[in-house]
Amino acid sequence: MKKVLITRKLLRSNEDRISKIWDANLNLKDEVYSQKKLIELSQGCDGILTSLTEKIDEGVVQELSESVKIISNFAVGFGNIDLEATKKRNIVVTNTPDVLTDATAEIAMLLILGAARRASEGLLYAKNKNWKWSADFLIGKQLQGSRLGILGMGRIGRAVAKLAKAFGMEIHYHNRSKLNSDLEMGAIYHSSIKSLFSVSDILSINCPATKETKNIINKETLEYFPPGAIITNSARGDMIDDEALVQALINRKIYSVGLDVYNGEPNLYSGYLNQPNVFILPHLGSATKKTRTAMADLAISNIEEFFKTGNCRNKVN
Ligand code: DGY
Repeated sequence: MKKVLITRKLLRSNEDRISKIWDANLNLKDEVYSQKKLIELSQGCDGILTSLTEKIDEGVVQELSESVKIISNFAVGFGNIDLEATKKRNIVVTNTPDVLTDATAEIAMLLILGAARRASEGLLYAKNKNWKWSADFLIGKQLQGSRLGILGMGRIGRAVAKLAKAFGMEIHYHNRSKLNSDLEMGAIYHSSIKSLFSVSDILSINCPATKETKNIINKETLEYFPPGAIITNSARGDMIDDEALVQALINRKIYSVGLDVYNGEPNLYSGYLNQPNVFILPHLGSATKKTRTAMADLAISNIEEFFKTGNCRNKVN
């Protein structure tokens, strides 16, 4: 029986499946393992099912047990794993695409709505019972008729576009390359981020975290946006230079921000805390029972497929 380390607690039905097929080291107390502990626990394992909370950097990859042949990440993003290092060691890395597209796109819309309609401020007023209706109370921005810029028109970006169209938004996007018109669904392509940002009343970040996208929202690029733009991020915190974004909020260049992901999770950059116009969630993109179950099922199937065939269709390295 293959031995597999599962780094975080999963939903019951997924753990039941795992227990039947592998000699599994489950994390029933859901401890967040240090890199040292992860290395220790990898001893004798054939595979590891990881989550985005484990930073599998070059140092960790080099120290993992020789027996480890696959790392199956329980996420579509894999910025937590050093792919080059895994390649050198011949360790296959897989992810969980598709199954979380709709859930994440829903959260992207929640961020857009929350940031545009001042939901954080509204919640506080409602809870504190210290408000009275008036014609200009908590006036926000309307989605209908506004331009949505999508940075990264992959599966999730396209699902956001579809939902946003139903809200009457005009969709613009930037991608490494222009999509075929059937995938574009009427969205307008911009070959540069400058061009995209300059027409984005609202931006939805849906690109992967890579060297190229790191801090793509920074002091210089924030200047490209129309005054009073809204920035939302449901992908990874890496894309945002937080200090620059908070400064743009203070200067009112940026109207509001919606974040489901951020640098140094769970520790939000403190500058955001003093800003009323920030709508923040704790990385809930894929957090529905249906989606989390499907993600773990896929992460398990990826390992099974690899053990059976030596290959895997969701290999990312
Ligand atoms: C992903 O799969 O990358 C999500 O962010 C996890 O919730």
